[in-house]
Amino acid sequence: MSATSFPEGFVWGVSTSAFQIEGGTSAGGRGPSIWDVFSADRAEACDHYHRYPEDVRLMKDLGMAAYRFSVSWARVFPDGSGKANQAGLDFYDRLLDEVLGAGITPYATLYHWDLPQSLEDAGGWPSRDTARHFADYAAAVGERLGDRVGTWFTLNEPWVSAFLGYGSGIHAPGRKSAADAFTAAHHLMLAHGLAAQALGDAKVGVVLNISPVMTPGQVADPSRPLSEEDADAVARIDALANRQFLDPMLRGAYPADLLPVIERAAGLDHIRDGDLEVIARPIDLLGVNYYTPLVVQAQPSEPADPAFPGSEGVLFCTVPTAVTAMGWPIVPGCLSRVLQHLATEYPGTDLMVTENGADFVDVVTGEGIHDVERISFIEEHLRALRSAIEAGAPVRGYFVWTLLDNLEWADGYRRKFGLVHVDFATQRRRLKDSALWYRDVVRRNGLTDTRPKRPTLETVAARARVSRATVSRVVNGEASVSSEVRTAVLRAVKELGYVPNAAARSLVTRRTNAVALVVSVPRQGGEALTAAVVQYVTSLLEGAGKQITLMLADTAESRRRIVQHVEARLCDGVVLLPPDRADTLAERLSRTGVPVVLLGKQAIASLVPYVDVDNAGGAAAATQHLIERGRRRIGMICGPMDLVAVQDRLAGHREALRRAGRQPLLALADLTRPSGAAAMRQLLGDEPALDAVFAATDQLAIGALQAARECGRRVPEDLAVVGFDDIDAASATTPALTTVRVPVADQALALARLLLSRLEGRHTTPVVLPTRLVIREST
Ligand code: FCB
Repeated sequence: MSATSFPEGFVWGVSTSAFQIEGGTSAGGRGPSIWDVFSADRAEACDHYHRYPEDVRLMKDLGMAAYRFSVSWARVFPDGSGKANQAGLDFYDRLLDEVLGAGITPYATLYHWDLPQSLEDAGGWPSRDTARHFADYAAAVGERLGDRVGTWFTLNEPWVSAFLGYGSGIHAPGRKSAADAFTAAHHLMLAHGLAAQALGDAKVGVVLNISPVMTPGQVADPSRPLSEEDADAVARIDALANRQFLDPMLRGAYPADLLPVIERAAGLDHIRDGDLEVIARPIDLLGVNYYTPLVVQAQPSEPADPAFPGSEGVLFCTVPTAVTAMGWPIVPGCLSRVLQHLATEYPGTDLMVTENGADFVDVVTGEGIHDVERISFIEEHLRALRSAIEAGAPVRGYFVWTLLDNLEWADGYRRKFGLVHVDFATQRRRLKDSALWYRDVVRRNGLTDTRPKRPTLETVAARARVSRATVSRVVNGEASVSSEVRTAVLRAVKELGYVPNAAARSLVTRRTNAVALVVSVPRQGGEALTAAVVQYVTSLLEGAGKQITLMLADTAESRRRIVQHVEARLCDGVVLLPPDRADTLAERLSRTGVPVVLLGKQAIASLVPYVDVDNAGGAAAATQHLIERGRRRIGMICGPMDLVAVQDRLAGHREALRRAGRQPLLALADLTRPSGAAAMRQLLGDEPALDAVFAATDQLAIGALQAARECGRRVPEDLAVVGFDDIDAASATTPALTTVRVPVADQALALARLLLSRLEGRHTTPVVLPTRLVIREST
């Protein structure tokens, strides 16, 4: 094996799962699964049910040796049990023939989180019967498809099914009970053992999400000794996340330190005599899904996280590293650590990385889809994997998560993990750069000696056909460049994955270790956000060893002093909370060459990275909700149109109306409650048939509620009202206001991480966080 090649016969592939790509949710007699019921998004996904020949051809063209997919239980048993649905099995029959015909080896997962809803209605995973039904399902699938499936994986990430599905409730079926979560976990493992039995002599494995657990200090230095309290915190989370599954399945016993935790929450009656023998039936392969580590430390006052019952006194920390668009810290070295750890602690089992990949914001252009960040993410993880093999870990293969952009569970379609881009309006598939890069890795069974050269200012200038000075002006957000030139330069920068030099240079010349947190006032209605940013940015950056200088940009004089401070290199980076309206501070600061990150998208596109929320998506969801509630004439109260957020909310509203074939009806306001009330009266005057209003902010919506009442309209009977922001007052109005929740703390965290990414010289793209519709009585 040369320095970059992989062992002969190393298995290269991609992974997918049924619910995330198939669609065809009632085709061929499929029954509903818990995800059909739970998911807020339509489940057509990638329509793979109909388009599988095209998808298999894509894999063939990419030279994949293996394909890991999952079988939908509800397709095979629409009610979870009883008589198998032949039409459902036929689909997998066709799929397998296609896959094998393309020379690709199939790896089939039996359960990737999509429990038939009827079984959930009968008690779900906390009920022991579900494990028995799973064994029957495994037997039926094994009998029909076993002649062509070389390797079965019983379960995908049972921790997620049990603890996010029944503990924290952020996944389907959305239940929140520690007792149910532990019981579900046990029954999932029992189901695994029973299914392995039912599959007879076939090759069987299980897929676990193994997350290395460590303190923030150990991320940088794994051998760092721990205090007794921190060691306890690490051990507790490791038991809950990893050993809870590894030990029963591979050693035939629950970890001794976990049993009292289970007993406190759920009792131990559900663990019956003989269960552990079934669960520990030897397996042929352990699939490891690795994305990111769990970073924790002791913190006595901390309440338990519902996804980790028994985690009282443990703080889940954010780590000072670069992150993916999903906010997951990128720590490739941990993949190597995990694999070596498994090889020593659980010897004798072959390992396979069954999922690894990342969500990034891709750059979609006419010529292609450029995703440099995904390429370097996979490359770094493959290097880590290779070093684990060199150290003796028996790792037999690697599967990228995932083939296609798809339906990412509770996060919907906004997450992009695919090697292949999917346009969900047309279902058109297009290869991303990472797909072509991965094809070459597979072809040569390894990486290249040299990493792709980092692009320079010259390369960008050449690609955009402009001078270096122009590139520099655009990079620094100067307003003096025409919008066509700016677009061309920004496109070239993104396509090439260029990291502005200043960030890289600051790595070498860094001498202050200080970060300036600049707050402009007033930010309309943004007090809570500002407070959260100050709190989180400070604690996260201080955790990364930075000193924070808080600076107030409230007068011309103070802004001048801030620019001077940064120009004098008295800080390594700047977090800026600009005011809502046009202001040149961001531009002036970015021209200093010191990395700057912004809260909120700016009116002029520049390379200064920002964190914002999905204003258009939130407004579209709010409008769509009104349409679904049967509202016919929907008006919008807009805030001032020079605010970028208001423009985006209006665009989202219009788009949702357009899709439904409706006409917009607008009234303008400023940002105060009285102006919301005035706009409401105006709308009612213009359109007596008005039966719904979407207001650009909660303040406007509250004014609208008052005016509607004064005009004799009952809310929601005559008129439905939706706001935006979910300020504290929104839940206290009468009736309580339906609104779009903006994630406050998440924005603050994303901002701090973005700055750290820039300080590390990483290529950064804007972070746009999802919003969520909160339905209350006003609709
Ligand atoms: C894993 C899941 C997979 C996908 C990735 C991003 O936990 O197994 O379905 O959601 O995360």
